[in-house]
Amino acid sequence: MTSTEQGRRKYDALADRYEEIYFYVADLGQELVSHAAPPPGARVLDVGAGRGAVARAALAAGCAVTAVDASAGMVARLAADHPELVVRQQDAGTLAFPGGSFDVVTAGFLVQVLTEPEAALAEFHRVLAPEGVVALSLERQTVGRLGWLHDLNREFFGAGTSDDPLSPDGLDELLTGAGFTAPARALVKVPKNVANPAALWDWLALQGVPEVLDTLPSQDAVAFRERFFRGAEDMHRNGGITLEFAATLHTATRP
Ligand SMILES: C[S@@+](CC[C@H](N)C(=O)[O-])C[C@H]1O[C@@H](n2cnc3c(N)ncnc32)[C@H](O)[C@@H]1O
Repeated sequence: MTSTEQGRRKYDALADRYEEIYFYVADLGQELVSHAAPPPGARVLDVGAGRGAVARAALAAGCAVTAVDASAGMVARLAADHPELVVRQQDAGTLAFPGGSFDVVTAGFLVQVLTEPEAALAEFHRVLAPEGVVALSLERQTVGRLGWLHDLNREFFGAGTSDDPLSPDGLDELLTGAGFTAPARALVKVPKNVANPAALWDWLALQGVPEVLDTLPSQDAVAFRERFFRGAEDMHRNGGITLEFAATLHTATRP
């Protein structure tokens, strides 16, 4: 297994809300497929497919798409929403396909959540045909004008995870180490405007922020809300509220 039981449970629980919370993944899935540029009819394997952000874009490009995910919840939702996809529950590190079965392997925002990305990349290499292309996206943390919200979160909830995230250079090194050649990379940014402070609060609410606030002493929860709305009003009046999502898109060739 290249991810933890806890990781799989997290995505099972998120399956019905995933693309509503992370609404930018649809655009970034299209960007990843455009970057990989598969010809119509190409056999595409989308790994860690989630709700299908990348797989849908590959279908729209005329590819024959197989989608796999380790989470039973994601697989059930994906199969129900997209009967035109071949959907399987599989781990990225133990893919149940013969060697050389695909022309393109895609994985949107997967490698960053794996405990053993090397094992997954070795599998991507194995299932690709010679001259096949792997296309991966990696989320980049962007704070931009939302620095006030990050500071507020840090003040009330602590520094967050101390894990060292996989860097774009680190991912290119992993790709080369797995035997891929010609790594190429592009940075894409997807700014999303939010109508007003209440809409920004609704977006945080989808992510469970009110439930987390309930675990704080009540005066702290009230203070968080007040400061959140003050910060959001300020941003709204001074140029508008924009969420700035970004990713690096990586492609490489299996010789
Ligand atoms: C951040 S989401 C990305 C989903 C989708 N690719 C997208 O771009 O929206 C990561 C997905 O990878 C799946 N995943 C996590 N670990 C996995 C593993 N070891 N093998 C296959 N899928 C895995 C999760 O269940 C989740 O659906």
